[in-house]
Amino acid sequence: MNEKKEQKKISQIVDELTLEEKASLCSGDSWMSTKAISRLNVPSINVSDGPHGVRIDEKSKIEKGDKVTTCFPTASAIASSWNKNLVREIGKALGKECQNIGVHVLLAPGINIKRTPLCGRNFEYYSEDPYLSGKLSAAYVKGVQSQGVGTSLKHFACNNQETDRMIVSAEVEERPLREIYLSGFKRVVKEEQPWTVMCSYNKLNGTYTSEHHDLLTEVLRNEWDFEGLVVSDWAAVNDRVAGLEAGLDLEMPGPSEANDRKIVEAVKSGKLEGSALNRTVGRILKLVLKATRCSRGGESEIDAEAHHDLARKAASESIVLLKNENELLPLDETDLSSLAVIGRMAKNPNLQGGGSSEVDPTKVDVPLEEIKKIADDKFQVSFAPGYPIADRKSEDSVEEALKTAEKADVVVLFVGLPNGIESEGYDRHHMKLPENQVRLIQKISEVHPNTVIILNNGSPVSMDAWIENVPSLLEGWLAGQAGGGAIADILFGKVNPSGKLVETVPTALEDNPSHINFPGENGKVLYGEGLFVGYRYYDEKNIEPQFPFGYGLSYTSFDYSGLSLSKKKIDDTEDLTVSVKVTNTGDRAGKEIVQLYVDHKNAKLVRPPKELKSFKKITLNPGESKTVDFTLGRQDFSYYDPSREKWIVETGDYDILVGSSSRDIRARSTLYLKSTQKLEKTLTENSSLKEWLEDNRARKLLKQILPEEEGERSESASEGMKNLPLKKLTMLSQGKVTEEMIEKLVEAMQK
Ligand code: BGC
Repeated sequence: MNEKKEQKKISQIVDELTLEEKASLCSGDSWMSTKAISRLNVPSINVSDGPHGVRIDEKSKIEKGDKVTTCFPTASAIASSWNKNLVREIGKALGKECQNIGVHVLLAPGINIKRTPLCGRNFEYYSEDPYLSGKLSAAYVKGVQSQGVGTSLKHFACNNQETDRMIVSAEVEERPLREIYLSGFKRVVKEEQPWTVMCSYNKLNGTYTSEHHDLLTEVLRNEWDFEGLVVSDWAAVNDRVAGLEAGLDLEMPGPSEANDRKIVEAVKSGKLEGSALNRTVGRILKLVLKATRCSRGGESEIDAEAHHDLARKAASESIVLLKNENELLPLDETDLSSLAVIGRMAKNPNLQGGGSSEVDPTKVDVPLEEIKKIADDKFQVSFAPGYPIADRKSEDSVEEALKTAEKADVVVLFVGLPNGIESEGYDRHHMKLPENQVRLIQKISEVHPNTVIILNNGSPVSMDAWIENVPSLLEGWLAGQAGGGAIADILFGKVNPSGKLVETVPTALEDNPSHINFPGENGKVLYGEGLFVGYRYYDEKNIEPQFPFGYGLSYTSFDYSGLSLSKKKIDDTEDLTVSVKVTNTGDRAGKEIVQLYVDHKNAKLVRPPKELKSFKKITLNPGESKTVDFTLGRQDFSYYDPSREKWIVETGDYDILVGSSSRDIRARSTLYLKSTQKLEKTLTENSSLKEWLEDNRARKLLKQILPEEEGERSESASEGMKNLPLKKLTMLSQGKVTEEMIEKLVEAMQK
C-alpha cells in the first residue's frame, strides 16, 4: 500500500473509532505490545529491548523458545570500534533476529551522552561526544530499519544518570542542551527517521520530558521534522493528558486503563482537543500498519553461527590496547612454552550489564577455552582463579595465583567489575576495581615482568593504583557472547587491535567535569560544566587524563603527512575537503582511526578547544599509504547562540586538526571562513560601551545620537568605563546622555 492510501486508511479508521477505543489505543496491551482493535482489523505489534541484542522479555508474548538471539558487544564496546559499517551490520543482524521472533520495534539505540563515568547505564550508551554518538547510532538505526523493523531512539533526553532517574530534573542551559545532549538525537532523526523516539524518565529544566512540549513537539517535530511516534519510557508518564498534548503518543507498558479514562474525560470536558487525540491515534495507527506491512510473519533466515562470528569480529574491533611496553603483545604462539591465565573472569566473563538490555546468548565463548584452543599442544596453559567472586580477602587465592604465575613465561590476568556493579536503575559509587583484584594485579605485576591485564567492564575503572608496573593492558569491555574468542584473537595477533576510547579515562574520578554536580540534590542535577563534557573539559583545563578520548594502540604504527585543505579560504555555502596521507610504517596490517577536530579561534561565545567533526577508519598493509578525505560543511563550523535562538557561523579562523587521538594531533592547518549569514545585531542598552564601540555601525550611531563631547569621551574612556553597560551613561554623564537617547540608539541598531 502506498503512503497516500495508507494515510487514507488511517483517517478512515480514526473516523470509525469510538472515543473510548481511541483512548485505549494510547497505551499498550501488555508489557511489550500495543492494543489491537479487532473490529476494525487493527492488529497488535510487539516491541522488545535492545540495544546489544534482542531481549525476549518473560513478560512479552513472544514464544520462540530460548537462545535464539545473539548477545553482541554492548554499546560502549562497539562504539570503541569507531566502525559505522560494522555497527550497521550489527543493526541488520538484530533486525533479522527481530523478524525471526516477530518483534516489530527494537527499543534501541540508547544514545545518551556519558556525562559521568559513574552512570550505571554507560555500557548501553555510545560516547561522551555527540558527533560520534550520532554517527554510530544513525548507522545502527539504518541497519535495523533496513530489515523492516523499527527502532526507538532513547532516552530523549538528558537521562545521563540512574540516581533518581524517575524524578530528577536535569538543569541544562540551552547551549549545551543543543550542542551536546540533543545533537546526536537530531542527527539520527534527520538522517534516518527512526520509527519511534522514546522519551526519558527525568525532568528537563523542571518539566518531565514525557510532557515537555518544547522537546517533543517544537524541537523534535517542528525543527527536526520527525515523522514517527513518541513512546514513553516504561512508566515514565506523569500527567497523561499533559503528555498527550505535549506530543507523547504511546504510553508503555499497558494497559493503563486509568490514564486511558483520563484521556476520555479530558476530551469530554473540553480540556483536551479531540484533534490532539486524533493526531496521536493517527501516529499510533501509522506505526502499527507500517510494522505489520513490513513484518515477515515471524519467518526470517537466521544464521546463528554467522551472527556469532559477527559478534566476534565486532568484539575484536572494539577491544582497545591501552599499554604495550616492549611489545609484549602480541604473544607468539610458536615461541611460548607456558602461559598462566589468572582471574575468574577468564572463565566467567561478564558479557553485558544489568537491566532491561540483558540478552540470553545463543552460546558463549569462554576466554580461557579460546586461549586453550590456540595453545593446542604448542604451549601449556595453566589457570588460577586469583580472587573469589565477592570482594573478600582470600590469601589462598592470591598464593595459588602467584605460584601459577611464577612458572609461566607470560601471565594474562583477567579483572573487571563484578556482576551487578554496572546496571540500569543505579549508578556506580566509585571507579575502583574490587580491592582484592587491585591487590592481585599489584602482586602479580611485582613478581612477573610479563603481565598482561585484560579488563572486563562497561565504563572506565581507576588504574592509578596499579598501572605503573603493568606492561600491557587491554580494555576488553563487556564484549558479548563472542568476546572470549576476540580476546584470544587479539592476544595472539590474529587480529591487530584497532579500537580507540570513546570516553576519557580520568586519572581520578574528581577530575571528571560533572564531579561537583553529580548526582545532584533536592531533585535537581545542575549540568554546571555546560559545554565542557568529556575531552572538551580536560583540554580546556589542561588536565592530563589517564587515557584521552580517541586513544588506542595498535601492533603496527602509522605516520601522518601532507595535510591539505581544498581551499584556505571559503565561505559558509561551500564545503571544504581535508586530505591527509596515512602510512602504515610497521610490519603488520592494521586499522587506523583518523580523527578530525575543529578549533574555532576567537569565537564570540566560548567554545571548547577542539571538537570532533569527522573520522574515518582505514585498513593499511605494511608500508601502504592511503589518502583520507574528509568533507566539512557549514554545520561543522557552527554553534548554537541562545541569544539568537539559532545555529550561527562566524567569520574567522578555524584550525583543522587531524590526529590519532584527541591528544595526539599529527597535522594541522588553518582555514579562514567567511560567514554569509545575516546576523542581526543584538546590541542592547545592557551591552557594554566596549561592544558598542567595537561595532562600526554602532560607533557611528553613538557619534550621531550622543552629544559630541559625550561621544568623544566614550571613545577615550578607560577600560573599566568601557566595560559598563551603555545605559549607565545616563548617570555617568550627569544627565547629558538621556534615557531617550539610549532608547533611540537601541532602536536604530535594531533596524
Ligand atoms: C528502560 C528502557 C527500556 C524499557 C523497556 C525501561 O526501564 O529505561 O530503556 O526500553 O524499560 O524494557
